[in-house]
Amino acid sequence: MTDYRVPLAGVIGHPIGHSRSPKLHGHWLKTYGLAGHYIPMDVALADLETVLRTLPKAGFVGANVTVPHKEAALKIADHASDRATVIGAVNTLVFREDGSIHADNTDGYGFMENLRTGAPDWNAKDGPAVVFGAGGAARAVLQALSDAGVPEILLTNRTRARADHLKEEFGQRIHVVDWVQAGNVIENAELVVNTTSLGMQGQPELRVPLDGLQPGAVVTDLVYAPLKTRLLQTAEQAGCTAVDGLGMLLHQAVPGFERWFGVRPEVDADARAAALS
Ligand code: ATR
Repeated sequence: MTDYRVPLAGVIGHPIGHSRSPKLHGHWLKTYGLAGHYIPMDVALADLETVLRTLPKAGFVGANVTVPHKEAALKIADHASDRATVIGAVNTLVFREDGSIHADNTDGYGFMENLRTGAPDWNAKDGPAVVFGAGGAARAVLQALSDAGVPEILLTNRTRARADHLKEEFGQRIHVVDWVQAGNVIENAELVVNTTSLGMQGQPELRVPLDGLQPGAVVTDLVYAPLKTRLLQTAEQAGCTAVDGLGMLLHQAVPGFERWFGVRPEVDADARAAALS
């Protein structure tokens, strides 16, 4: 009998209309001439487990998970990668042939790949990183920077207790700096990362004096709407390398797409344009 089914995948969140993933995966499916579909799914938390257990039976090979289900999906999954366990959240699920759900988190991977391509001269081991924010996005960044061997991470957050908590979890190399004093430690940094929502459309700006930074230092913002945040503009004016957050979104999608559809997709100008379309 001919197996006419095509692999299905999608992104699960609540709401889901903002997600760029359907455009991106749709672009890659078309570019590589693959049979498959990738669809947005708006799922309430109360229905999440039922939906995740049902999707494999309906021909789904996996799914991305976004806000607000990234932590809940980890609890539902049958097994998880080390990085998903460390981050405590999931963005990529693989539905295995035995019916089990495998959870992974590729956000830290996407963050590092974005830096590797956007700032090829940056070397993790060269010096300290300053990280703004202590929410879910910061956890993925801390996992990635710790794994990459950054010697010291200066972590600052408006609510200091959240940063103290992350230091307990992510270890020795993290030093918590008061939010109001973060400007004083910036000048030693080789890397500055904004993981807060400051700078996003409709939000206040993250205002940090960057003129003390070493030339060659790298500044990256996880915010990608707008693409060039005020932080990145300031970084460029200070002679630093500025890396926008869209690349992280694109790179974090690569492992899932490859696993589900069998082709490792390119993160190039066309993919960027598709994600923004
Ligand atoms: P995400 O998963 O995107 O990291 P989150 O867990 O809600 O989302 O975290 C949002 C981050 O942005 C936090 O670090 C938050 O600081 P608090 O822990 O003090 O809330 C930060 N943030 C949001 N709005 C902010 C603002 N107006 N000023 C400073 N930090 C802000």
